[in-house]
Amino acid sequence: MELVTLSDLAEDLSGARILVRSDLNVPLDSGRITDDARIAASIPTLRELLRRGAAVGVCSHLGRPKGQVNPEFSLAPCAARLSELLGTTVDLLGDCVGDAVTERVMSLAPGEIVMLENLRFHPQEEANDPAFAAELAAGFTGYVNDAFGAAHRAHASTEAVAHLLPAYAGMLMAREVGVIGGLLERPRHPFVAVLGGSKVSDKLPLIQSLLERCDRVLVGGAMCFTFLIATGDPVGRSLHEGPDAQQMARDLLESAVRLNCMLQLPSDVLVADKFAGDAELQVVASDGIPDGWMGVDIGPRTAASYAELIADAGTVFWNGPMGAFETPAFADGTRTVADAMADASGVTVVGGGDSGAAVAQFGIADRFTHVSTGGGAALEMMEGRVLPGVAALQRRG
Ligand code: 3PG
Repeated sequence: MELVTLSDLAEDLSGARILVRSDLNVPLDSGRITDDARIAASIPTLRELLRRGAAVGVCSHLGRPKGQVNPEFSLAPCAARLSELLGTTVDLLGDCVGDAVTERVMSLAPGEIVMLENLRFHPQEEANDPAFAAELAAGFTGYVNDAFGAAHRAHASTEAVAHLLPAYAGMLMAREVGVIGGLLERPRHPFVAVLGGSKVSDKLPLIQSLLERCDRVLVGGAMCFTFLIATGDPVGRSLHEGPDAQQMARDLLESAVRLNCMLQLPSDVLVADKFAGDAELQVVASDGIPDGWMGVDIGPRTAASYAELIADAGTVFWNGPMGAFETPAFADGTRTVADAMADASGVTVVGGGDSGAAVAQFGIADRFTHVSTGGGAALEMMEGRVLPGVAALQRRG
């Protein structure tokens, strides 16, 4: 899919007023940003537009304030952090629409940037309301969407507004779509997917899509216990899903055979007598989890075999941790997979979300081909779906 990008915009943008949709939806703890990766990832596009002399109004959602003004979800911490990273003042306006906002936008000087307040303070944003999109567009001469993380949402700021102003993909958006599109269209083989997380039922379309595209799918995380119980193995007190998801797991195992894809389950697991850092631990065969114990990570034999397969792969896509990595005693499997990917010579892509957080926590994010800033968006794209925010930026004719 070819997008209209910043290369299609003039080199001299003085006199232009550009509405930039970024995804500044960062995790906050009592008003403090705990991971600013998304803000940092929004910088190149903003810098480039400002360098060309554009006046910029950057907008985003933050959290899920459900269409109500709620100071807890104000973008103030993001404006402050963006000011620091850009090295220039970024004033936060009191709202994202309305006469005062339009007036301020119209009076912006070339190279000046302001931030609009949380889009989701208005219910019309998530309703993809065209009248709200027109208010948002008021005063601007162009629109750049750099919010890959929100591209799976058909919202006023990601979809409707793209039909009202000349629309371009930002640099982050173009990179995300280029890398993930490359995995879908022309992956280097062997193509290995590493899949974790807690639920098979949540990731059913993703797993199906991966089975069709990959040579191997390596399963870890709590979802492996739903697969194990579905094949008749005891899982003790391990987290697992009920009969419906177990049937899905059996169907997936059958599809894998039909599609000639190796769907690989752990051969050993780390089990704990309780879910706590000071739990008693043992490594057991995956078909022998004792009564009363719970699986908290893949075992060392599994981790080593997954690492070897990753090293030999032409392409690796990873989504979902291998264990409860937030607890250091349960992080070895996730760490081994992450390190193997960081050392691999093939194309290595992390599909955002918890696995993105894991590589950030391990301090190795810069050793991957790409770590997506979009959790849900990356997964929907890997499912082969067209994202509404991306479709709106497609080059036509
Ligand atoms: C995300 O964090 O995945 C994006 O910012 C989208 O947020 P949402 O799931 O609240 O729409």
